[in-house]
Amino acid sequence: MNTLRSQLQHHGHRYYVLDEPEIPDAEYDRLFAELQALELAHPELSSPDSPTRRVGGAPLGQFDSVRHAVPMLSIRTETDTLATGAENFDGRVRRELGLTPNDPPVEYVAELKFDGLAMSLRYENGVLVQAATRGDGEVGEDVTQNIRTIRQIPLRLNAAAAFDMPAILEVRGEVYMRRDEFEALNDRQREKIAQGAKGEKTFVNPRNAAAGGVRQLDPAIAAQRRLSFFAYGLGEVTPAAQGGPAFQTHFDLLMTLKSWGFPVAEQTKVVRGAAELVAFHQHMGETRDQLPYDIDGVVYKVNSLALQRQLGFVTREPRWAVAHKYPAQEQLTTILGIDVQVGRTGKLTPVAKLAPVFVGGVTVTNATLHNEDEARRKDVRIGDTVIVRRAGDVIPEVVSVVLEKRQGQAEQFTMPRQCPVCGSAAVREEGEADYRCTGGLFCGAQRKEAILHYAHRRAVEVDGLGDKLVEVLVDANIIRTLPDLYRLGLTSLAGLDRMADKSANNLLEAIENSKQTTLPRFMFGLGIRHVGEATAKALARYFGNLDAIMRASEEELLAVDDVGPVVAQSIRTFFDQAHNREVVEQLRACGVTWEEGEPAERAPQPLSGKTFVITGTLPTLGRDEAKDKVEAAGGKVAGSVSKKTDYVVAGTEAGSKLTKALELGVKVIDESQLMELLNGSA
Ligand code: IVH
Repeated sequence: MNTLRSQLQHHGHRYYVLDEPEIPDAEYDRLFAELQALELAHPELSSPDSPTRRVGGAPLGQFDSVRHAVPMLSIRTETDTLATGAENFDGRVRRELGLTPNDPPVEYVAELKFDGLAMSLRYENGVLVQAATRGDGEVGEDVTQNIRTIRQIPLRLNAAAAFDMPAILEVRGEVYMRRDEFEALNDRQREKIAQGAKGEKTFVNPRNAAAGGVRQLDPAIAAQRRLSFFAYGLGEVTPAAQGGPAFQTHFDLLMTLKSWGFPVAEQTKVVRGAAELVAFHQHMGETRDQLPYDIDGVVYKVNSLALQRQLGFVTREPRWAVAHKYPAQEQLTTILGIDVQVGRTGKLTPVAKLAPVFVGGVTVTNATLHNEDEARRKDVRIGDTVIVRRAGDVIPEVVSVVLEKRQGQAEQFTMPRQCPVCGSAAVREEGEADYRCTGGLFCGAQRKEAILHYAHRRAVEVDGLGDKLVEVLVDANIIRTLPDLYRLGLTSLAGLDRMADKSANNLLEAIENSKQTTLPRFMFGLGIRHVGEATAKALARYFGNLDAIMRASEEELLAVDDVGPVVAQSIRTFFDQAHNREVVEQLRACGVTWEEGEPAERAPQPLSGKTFVITGTLPTLGRDEAKDKVEAAGGKVAGSVSKKTDYVVAGTEAGSKLTKALELGVKVIDESQLMELLNGSA
């Protein structure tokens, strides 16, 4: 049993602390089960430091109080988030130590300030006997049962390093929750709430979730939180005189803790002088978002323990350490409104208007709600108090609503069905998250993009009309819609920045040249969603002229190679809008022309104008297959039988639809008759 315990301890440390497992999970599970069975058969041989104890014992009625042998102090916070924070600290240390500018720089350990809760772990003869929260610094709570469930915390110190293992050792550090565990926990919570579980809630941030986990009376619940731990210091420890460890520096101490089996953050670094503290603060500030857990700052500690003793304490705070914070990445604020913004490509984005709030180092007044589903999931309403997060350069985000603070009767957000900029239909296609404005050529928000696209080398091609120029022309209100391009004259270009006579002439010439184009280029240039070059060519080939395309029904469009239901609908929606047709007419009136051809030889459309209902099981064709064939032949397939139905195609086990057809006197045919219709021979 002892061998199994130390094997499991070794492999647990490899897995949870070093992240370098040596054996497969299944092998670990097998060893674990073997030990469990032995302990069950021989309870007299079980041991409090056994890895099997990590699953937690019976729930407690309350936590016992623990008086800390060495008080758990806090450290001074340098609130100045700029570089000067580190310089102030170094200046104070040097002054206290009586150093002159000629003395060498002081050596520090720069650590991360983990955003969790402080914990004191007491080991007696190498075995974890007690874990206590900080409480008021003097008296905390005994949370040993819960802390045992944290896999990163050794239940027994690593025996390999036991040569200098003190009889009494209190390790101090931070219990925290990784961000991915936090997200997973909240996902589980949301699921429970959705299933109607009472008294469940989501957590605001990883720190709250970790603190809640540590303070669970039922250790089984604590175990589910999957908490983590970093060691950063010591409490009571057997003095060196009595065989305890003799460290010279704080860094030594951390490395010894590491060899005993505790996680110590790999970013921890020995640095010299204020400049290197500043560099550390800055580097971690830039990379904190890539860490798998939250930090709210960095901590600087004088490395030499002799100098630490010399510096001592002021009012319960060590003079040898300071916390240098980063601006908070989350703040509370209120929702003033919800706007919908239209991007250059027509995407509609709901944006929360916020009461101005300082978060992540800047004042934020807007936060994206991404799309309709997100806005509904978060259920943000006007007047709500919300948590806003801004991490790094990321766009500010509403994390969640503080529901307890909701007072108003504001309604749930709904996405407008019209573009707020131009009033065109806004549509959300199946399987897509975003609504899009369909007024590409007409919409003010999409003007620049639409013109650029039209002028593209592979579209209508206006040589030299690029990004910058479009920007200038639109911003100066010289071009508002596409046809304005063809109304440009030398006078309107004259006053423009960087527009010498020669370039103005060149541009006008390019515009003139673009008038003679081709139908595929023009179709592509209109920027209809889903109509790429290939589709534009196929449409031109099939219909021969623009008017035919503009008139074509969805069914007719479907007959074109390359055109599926989504594309057909997109083309139809585009030309259904009067202002899009108007732009096309104006372009033609301005002289944009192409050679129009005859419609390509196309397969006759034998079923055009006919409506079919398919019911029952057909002998050879699948339902979808039959539908495709009917549609490809110009027919329509409906879901229910009415007077307007031309044919009901009935297979075996046809039910109510067949009855209805007979009632209404609709013609009923079988598969072979359908095939005859499709072949045009009926
Ligand atoms: S040292 C006497 N180091 O920040 C020095 N504290 O007041 C004791 N914290 O709640 C603290 N990361 O739990 C230290 N690397 C770190 C830390 C750290 C987070 C927490 C600590 C306490 C507060 C400091």
